[in-house]
Amino acid sequence: MDVPTDAISRFRHAVVTGGAGFLGSHLCTALLESGCDVTCVDDFCTGRPENVAHLTGRPGFTLLEADICRPFEVADSSGSSAPPDLVLNFASPASPADYLRMPLHTLETGSAGTRNALALARRHGARFVQASTSEAYGDPQEHPQSERYWGHVNPVGPRSVYDEAKRFGEALTAAEARVHGSNVGIVRLFNTYGPRMRGYDGRAVPTFVRQALAGEELTVTGDGRQTRSLAYVEDTVRGVLAMAGSELLGPVNVGNPDEITMQELAELVIELTGSRSGLRFVERPSDDPAVRCPDITLARGKLQWEPRVTARDGLERTIGWFRAHTHPGG
Ligand SMILES: NC(=O)c1ccc[n+]([C@@H]2O[C@H](COP(=O)([O-])OP(=O)(O)OC[C@H]3O[C@@H](n4cnc5c(N)ncnc54)[C@H](O)[C@@H]3O)[C@@H](O)[C@H]2O)c1
Repeated sequence: MDVPTDAISRFRHAVVTGGAGFLGSHLCTALLESGCDVTCVDDFCTGRPENVAHLTGRPGFTLLEADICRPFEVADSSGSSAPPDLVLNFASPASPADYLRMPLHTLETGSAGTRNALALARRHGARFVQASTSEAYGDPQEHPQSERYWGHVNPVGPRSVYDEAKRFGEALTAAEARVHGSNVGIVRLFNTYGPRMRGYDGRAVPTFVRQALAGEELTVTGDGRQTRSLAYVEDTVRGVLAMAGSELLGPVNVGNPDEITMQELAELVIELTGSRSGLRFVERPSDDPAVRCPDITLARGKLQWEPRVTARDGLERTIGWFRAHTHPGG
């Protein structure tokens, strides 16, 4: 992975909450490869030990099973790591299927969990980065979405458990900076895809890839004209690490401004997998945003970051991973 080593070279020991999840596991890998010790904290409610199996046993890597909703402390298994100087707070159910199944855990993780992760960073004087989301913009009435836009969120709809947990996490992080003067930052991540996503997590890319590889119809919600902007995981990891290495509070959007409709995405997956599957249009979930596209002027200017991987390239890599990791019939 292409890691901005300069940006993060000063860190000796990073804590990644949610480190056994999709994004977290790629962050753990990139940080360890840059020479930093890593403690991965995860309660495995949606993540899997297999996601970090390639790191287990490597010097400097510690896996701690813990629910961040309760106060936690980190100590590396060998006792040789420096105190944490970076905390990346990525713990949270993130796919609609997961947070609708675990609404209260999602709210508690965004609130009590974020508070505990902030407290850990404060105790050690560590830089803290909060993983927020484009869902903070809700069903946006401005397009593309810049950080100045305050969003359009239904506070009591089914998706509010995630959207409001993340908005509260942002508020808590900003208050931490005001009250304690802590070195904290907020990244608003837009949809990211890549290897280690779960085929049944309900998000568009893994669902389409799984269905195409199995020869099933691809289930496109609504009329397929709603848009998303999809970033390949390597680009998102670079953006997060650039944010970690900065002193910015943010929020800063990290996402790919190339917009694609759901129907175009499904057709591209069919083309790249060589599948003979067709499309099936199904009901669109409530409060599903019609458009989603980041304005990344701030990230370009302040972090010198922009995405590099095209949808075609990223999807080919993702499909390759799914082919290698899907058991026949499973
Ligand atoms: N993937 C995306 O497109 C995307 C977009 C925007 C924001 N994000 C944010 O990035 C983070 C990671 O998302 P992901 O896509 O990798 O999801 P994921 O479900 O693969 O990973 C989340 C991880 O957090 C862990 N976790 C959840 N609650 C926890 C708790 N209370 N204590 C400890 N661990 C807990 C899960 O077990 C899992 O390993 C989330 O905070 C999510 O909101 C992701």
